[in-house]
Parts: sequence; C-alpha cells; structure tokens
Amino acid sequence: MTTIHDGTSHPDAWWRKAVIYQIYPRSWADANGDGIGDLPGITSRLPYLRDLGVDAVWLSPFYTSPQADAGYDVADYRDIDPLFGTLDDAKDMVARAHELDLRVIVDLVPNHSSDEHAWFQAALAAGPGSPERARYIFRDGKGPEGNEPPNNWKAVFGGSAWTRITEADGSPGQWYLHLFDPKQPDFDWNHSEVRAEFESVLHFWLDLGVDGFRVDVAHGLVKEAGLPDWEAEQELLGGTGPDDGQGPMWDQDGVHEIYEAWRRILNSYNTSGDSSQDRVMCAEAWVKPASRAARYVRQTEFHQAFNFDFLDTTWRAADLRDVIETSYAANDSVGAPTTWVLSNHDVVRHATRLGLPIDAPRPNGIGAEDAQPDAELGLRRARAATALMLALPGGSYLWQGEELGLPEHTTMPDDVRQDPTWERSGHTVKGRDGCRVPMPWEADKPSLGFGPSEQTWLPQPESYAALAVDQQTGDETSTLELYRTMLRLRRERALAGGSLAMATNTGEVVQVDITSAAGTTTVITNLGEGPVEVPEGATVLLASGPLDAKGDVPTDTTVWLG
Ligand code: GLC
Ligand code: CA
Repeated sequence: MTTIHDGTSHPDAWWRKAVIYQIYPRSWADANGDGIGDLPGITSRLPYLRDLGVDAVWLSPFYTSPQADAGYDVADYRDIDPLFGTLDDAKDMVARAHELDLRVIVDLVPNHSSDEHAWFQAALAAGPGSPERARYIFRDGKGPEGNEPPNNWKAVFGGSAWTRITEADGSPGQWYLHLFDPKQPDFDWNHSEVRAEFESVLHFWLDLGVDGFRVDVAHGLVKEAGLPDWEAEQELLGGTGPDDGQGPMWDQDGVHEIYEAWRRILNSYNTSGDSSQDRVMCAEAWVKPASRAARYVRQTEFHQAFNFDFLDTTWRAADLRDVIETSYAANDSVGAPTTWVLSNHDVVRHATRLGLPIDAPRPNGIGAEDAQPDAELGLRRARAATALMLALPGGSYLWQGEELGLPEHTTMPDDVRQDPTWERSGHTVKGRDGCRVPMPWEADKPSLGFGPSEQTWLPQPESYAALAVDQQTGDETSTLELYRTMLRLRRERALAGGSLAMATNTGEVVQVDITSAAGTTTVITNLGEGPVEVPEGATVLLASGPLDAKGDVPTDTTVWLG
C-alpha cells in the first residue's frame, strides 16, 4: 500500500466532498406537458434527490435562448426561457432546494452568447470597426474579395469556425468567430465590457441565492493573439483530443486572471469564515495533462474542475490506478479536491460506453446502424466504476439517470436528432442526443412519468420503462438502490474526506484503502477474468453486483469492505 492522498491536510469545506447531481432541465421533469422539462417540474421532484442522498444539483442552462445548442446559446443571461418558466420559478426552485438541504449550482456560459443576444444584434447593425463589433471577434476575410475565412479554425460541431455576415447595406461583410455553432458567436474577452458584464451576471445569480456556477468551456475564453492557423480537428467533446498541445483557442494563460477576478467576487459573498457558506465554481476545462488542468483549481481560481481524464480512462486496472494517482498528485499540488465524473450531457452514458470494446475510441453518439454495445456488460461495469468513483476522496458529479443505470438511446431515428453536431458534421457524427433523453419516473404513466402528456422532445427507448424510478425503488438489486446505499455509506464512513492508499502490482485489480475518522474502508474493483477473494475477517459493506457462490468478488465488480 502506498499513500497517495492525504485527506487530513485539507480544510473541511462542502465542495471538497460533495456529490453533485446534474439536471438537464429539458429532460428531467415536465410540469406542463409540452414535452420539455421545466423549472416547476424540477422543483416538484427535488425530494427525490434528497432521498437519493446527493448534496447539490447543477442545472444545465435555463436562460432565454433560441435553443440552437439546447440552451448553451444564451440570449439573456439574467432571465429564464419561457420554455422552462420564469424568474419566480427559478427563485422557488432555489428556495425549495435549500429547504431540502440541497445546494444549487447554475451553468454560466461565458465563451459565447447566442447570435440573438442584444449585443450581437447591435454588432451586426453597427458595422465594421464599431465599438459594438469589438465585443465579439469580427475580422475581415482573406483573399481579394474577403471571401475566405480569416483563419482555418474548425468548429467543435463541424465545419469552419467562421461565418460571414451580410452587412446592413446588403454587401458581403465581415466574418465572426464561433468555436461551436454559427448561432454561438465567441465573445472577445480582451474587451473590458465583456469582463464587466459577466462579473455583473455573477452578482445577479449570487444575489438570487445560488451556491455556485459550473463554467462552460472555461479553457476557451482567451484566444492566442493574432489567431494563428491550426490544422487539427476540434476533438473537444468526442474522443480524447490531441496530446501534442491543444491549439491556439484553448487553455491560454490569459484565462486565469478572469477566474481570479471571479473568485474574489465569490469570496466576497462569504466573509464569515464559515466554509458552509462558500459559493463555488467548477471548471469545464478539457485540458491535458492533469498538471496543466490543475492550474484552474489553484486556490485563487476555481474550487473544482471536472476530472475528464477519469471519464476518458479505459476499463483497465492499470489505467485506472494511473489516473487515480495522477489526479491526486496534480490536484493535491495546488490544494484542490479531485472532482470525479463518469457521465454528463456531452458524452455517451457510461452504462453504454463501458459495453463497447475496450480499445474503441469514445464515440460522439451511437446510431442504429453502428455496432451496438453489450448492454448487460456495460451496466455491470458501470456499477463497478461508479462504486469505485463514489468511494474515492474528493467530490463527484452524477449525470441524471445514471442512478437508474440508464443506457444511451443508441437506436434513435436520425430525423428526431437535435444536437447541432448532427447537421454541422454533414450527418456523419450522431452527437449527444442519445444521452439527453427524458427521464423515466413511472413505468405505467404517459411519457414514463416525465410529464402529464405523451410528449417528449426526444423519444424514450423501450428499455427505459423497466428502469423507471418506481420500478427500482425498494428492489435491493436495482441500480437506484445501489446508488442510495453508496451515498449513505459514503457519508457514514466519511470517505470523501479520507486519505487514500493504493496497492501496487495488483494486476487486473484496483485496491485502495480509504481512512477517515470512521475507520478504514477497503475498496476492491476486479477487472480480471477470475474471482478475487475477500480478505479474511473483512465485512462486505456493499457490492456493485452479486458475489459468486463462494462469496468471492467476480469480474467487473466492486466491493467496499469494512
Ligand atoms: C460545453 C457544453 C456543451 C456545449 C458547449 C458549447 O462543452 O457542455 O453542451 O455544447 O459547451 O456551449
Ligand atoms: Ca414543460
């Protein structure tokens, strides 16, 4: 056993240990039956999350938006889209969550706005060289007529990262940069008004009572001066991305001062010295290697950053041991917690991902004509992976429905797809709709209890009925009850704040000891073909799947031992 993380060196703050449940507002609960989830729906279902045992919720965007990227294209950062409700609904949701002892984290999308944002509309109207254009990244095109984009950057969703506009007088005009969809123009973060505006937006939501922010594309705000050409495909969301540096649009040193300013604002909301009052921010930063990503969680910047290396790790014991060790080394070096995650609204659900061949690259969506995953194997591994994750000291994020073992919808008809990836890639990349399907609550109700009508903005696969919340509740073998037990034991055994030692040379097994004031918990994940014996005298506190007839730990199973 080698100690690789010392939990006692950390102050006792909630965000270092929290389990945070991600809600995708469109797909969690629909109160009015229009087929799209909404804030009143969320508020009504919050007791479910208290009973599940999580500490906080993160909600993907619910702001005013034309929904070109499911709300990640914001037209008004201070208001709610009518699809989701009103500002009063948001206040009610926050109040109800707090009543239930759940903290609320909202999504902040600072890299780009919607093209329907008042500032972008003003920029279009005002013309080249105007102060209005300076808040975005407008450039003249290349070539004699300015017919070619200013550089060769590609958009994450496919196609060029530049779109040419038509000027107010009808002439072919300048080009603007969008790292994502053409309806998501990038802000110019060198502009002081952009900085001031987002600081004001932070205040708006903090004053409304939210506990923090998940910051979208946190590594993208600042671009390298001169916008130099960059050949590589943008692999932000599918695949692991190039290892040889990430290009002039990502992870520029200039982003950090933005977050230092934000951290000062967050800190100003808690001058009590009582860390239970901390307001926090979490970085979505697809940055490699871990040591580089750790710069975002220095004490003067983010509290947390998603550990996407963990999400990307293949189902091999050596790779898991490696990522666990590297993650603690990097985060501990800056005094930050490690924030584990296996699924979110951008990636194939881990119950499906882990049912694909181990060496296959992580796909960006799966369609009916693609090789289908082994659903049983995927779920078994997913339960084992989550049981490992939720034992590891630090925080964790859960993606809605993973507690039900939901698979990806891998046979969705192409004509209902809504992720811009599908269109922008010229129908070559399926995209993220398959993980965003509305939640099944009650097997016998219309839309499986998602809302009062049959309507759902994406179709639910047949397999979801048997996985509905009401079908799993009370069934000790269900994934939902496994999650409830894991979250309860994690708290009782104070795992999140513990110290971690890992056994070396354990072949196809990952074995860690987590020691806290509540004692030592041994966690064994068996990725090998044969069974692993439970050490003598140990009590099995929890198993991610059935033990074999001899009481040994079979393949693709995790146990917690006391
Ligand atoms: C982030 C979001 C993703 C969105 C993109 C553009 O990666 O998680 O859903 O499409 O940013 O805002
Ligand atoms: Ca609705």
